[in-house]
Amino acid sequence: PTPTPVPRPTLGFTAVPAGSGSSIVVPSGYAYQVLAPWGSPLFAHSPAWKGDASESGADQALQVGDNHDGMHFFPMHDAAGQEKSDEGLLVVNHEYCNYEYLFKPEAGQSYPNAWTLDKVRKAQHAHGVSVIHVKRIGGQWQVQIGSAYNRRITGNTPMTLSGPAAGHALVKTAGDPSGTSVLGTLNNCGNGWTLWGTYLTCEENFNSYFGTTAGTDSRTEPMKRYGLSARGTGYRWEELDQRFDYVKEPNESNRFGWIVEIDPWDATSTPKKRTALGRFKHENCAMTLAKDGRVVVYMGDDQANDYVYKFVSDAAYDAGNPAANRNLLDSGRLFVARFTAGAVTGDMMGDGEWILLDKATNATLATNAAFPDQATVLIHARLAADAVGATKMDRPEWVTVHPTTGEVYLTLTNNSGRTVTDEANPRAENRYGQIIRWREAGGDAAGTRFEWDLFVLAGNPVAYPDRTDLRSGSANINAENTFNSPDGLAFSPNGLLWIETDGSNANTDRYQGQGNNQMLVADPASKEIRRFLVGPDGCEITGITFTPDMRTVFINVQHPGEVSGPNAPKPPAGQSLDEYLLAQPTAFSKWPEGAPGIAGAGGRPRSATVAIWKEDGGVVGI
Ligand code: FEO
Ligand code: CA
Ligand code: CA
Ligand code: CA
Repeated sequence: PTPTPVPRPTLGFTAVPAGSGSSIVVPSGYAYQVLAPWGSPLFAHSPAWKGDASESGADQALQVGDNHDGMHFFPMHDAAGQEKSDEGLLVVNHEYCNYEYLFKPEAGQSYPNAWTLDKVRKAQHAHGVSVIHVKRIGGQWQVQIGSAYNRRITGNTPMTLSGPAAGHALVKTAGDPSGTSVLGTLNNCGNGWTLWGTYLTCEENFNSYFGTTAGTDSRTEPMKRYGLSARGTGYRWEELDQRFDYVKEPNESNRFGWIVEIDPWDATSTPKKRTALGRFKHENCAMTLAKDGRVVVYMGDDQANDYVYKFVSDAAYDAGNPAANRNLLDSGRLFVARFTAGAVTGDMMGDGEWILLDKATNATLATNAAFPDQATVLIHARLAADAVGATKMDRPEWVTVHPTTGEVYLTLTNNSGRTVTDEANPRAENRYGQIIRWREAGGDAAGTRFEWDLFVLAGNPVAYPDRTDLRSGSANINAENTFNSPDGLAFSPNGLLWIETDGSNANTDRYQGQGNNQMLVADPASKEIRRFLVGPDGCEITGITFTPDMRTVFINVQHPGEVSGPNAPKPPAGQSLDEYLLAQPTAFSKWPEGAPGIAGAGGRPRSATVAIWKEDGGVVGI
């Protein structure tokens, strides 16, 4: 759809101060509600949210999944064919699950010791995607429970492996000798959407679901490069579901790490894993068109020192023939980025090139025995990118394309382990992250050269007042808007840049003055950045989509109250973490309990979507 033409917008809200606490803060004049938290019923026969984690695996498959991440609003159309801004399909990724909240506490155990296949299934069903028919009635968004559009896609939903790697020896398993039929999608992080009205869900840290009970480390080099662990996984699926044991099913993990295309309008459709886009830890993706109408998809691989990619389709998009576009993502070329310093070193700008990852034409890959064919290049894309000398980035997260200029923006969230710097990743021990942007040669998204600059070097001038210290951030960072770890990133259709963070909420020392994870809005022309929202304790802010009229913005609050990692509370001896947390109502955030749109007690923290609008009904952000 063509964006509504509007004058170049400027930021029009009062900045929200940084802070900690158990609720959401939005600018004055804005209101919000919580929508579709984890465990919400979707179908007429769905069990209601119980609040004590007593739902079974089958129950979870009928409820909204956990850890909401990327999402997109697909508007319904009215009788005149116009897009509606009060009704549509909200398609939401569910990235992972927190066992301390997913399962009912069991005495003396951090995780339930009576490990059963039903618990494995419950965890698998908390992953994937929800298609949720939503409607705004009387000023409040509501889930249309029982709508024929509603759907749960989980870690066990049948899907098709399509494109050049489908049927290859490396994706065949005992369970699927054809190498074309996969069960499920996992670690659904960011997302994209297509010009033809489908949803793209991106599989990120798929490696964490694979382990072995064999007691031996028989990992191949590619398995190690993709981060599979020889030890048991935290998820423990390999104990009871043998396809997750990489000794028993060495190729199963090759069937994850893809971008999956879903038709949200047909709840019976089979999702397709599009192998032409390469296999890595996909964060999100952003689609645009080349000058000749071919489809271009930008993608990041979220790992310290991994890469930025783009796909260019072989065939052109045909707006007049939607059916012809259905398999555009099955055939094309995959490129990886090299960022160079340009004419001047140290000015945080430069140029770069897109290196084609093609077995037939790339001299390095053509002679490399590790890549016998192009399917292997795609399945082991990280290793191919290593071989051609792509630039090792500070954890590429979300990418977004400016709606009118085509300029591409990408978050590099942080890389505390960086030792060797370069122009695009200019700080060792990078705790704060940066946003890089580039302009393709000739303004053509299919170009093979580009110019880039850093839009912002996030930093903390409160902790580092000396502005010559790169840790204080670039000139558009100040004591009021300081933040760390940009992650979610999206342009609204009117060209404002929305930045979401997933970093430290410690609010002390090097993070002092930054508060909880948050969302900020930037003007790409002036480079001004202003804080729009602060999330509840323990969460990250992620996922972002707008109604066509830009009067509602939907975001996701992921893992509120998360207590894993270094900040995890230490329960007294003899008490499990679960028991401890549930006995200490103030020990952790139970957001969204008591928040607008949530009736009654929630029992435990729940990831959820949040709809935000201006009380005067205006366009958000301006
Ligand atoms: Fe799932 Fe890189 O965030
Ligand atoms: Ca330079
Ligand atoms: Ca992310
Ligand atoms: Ca995250």
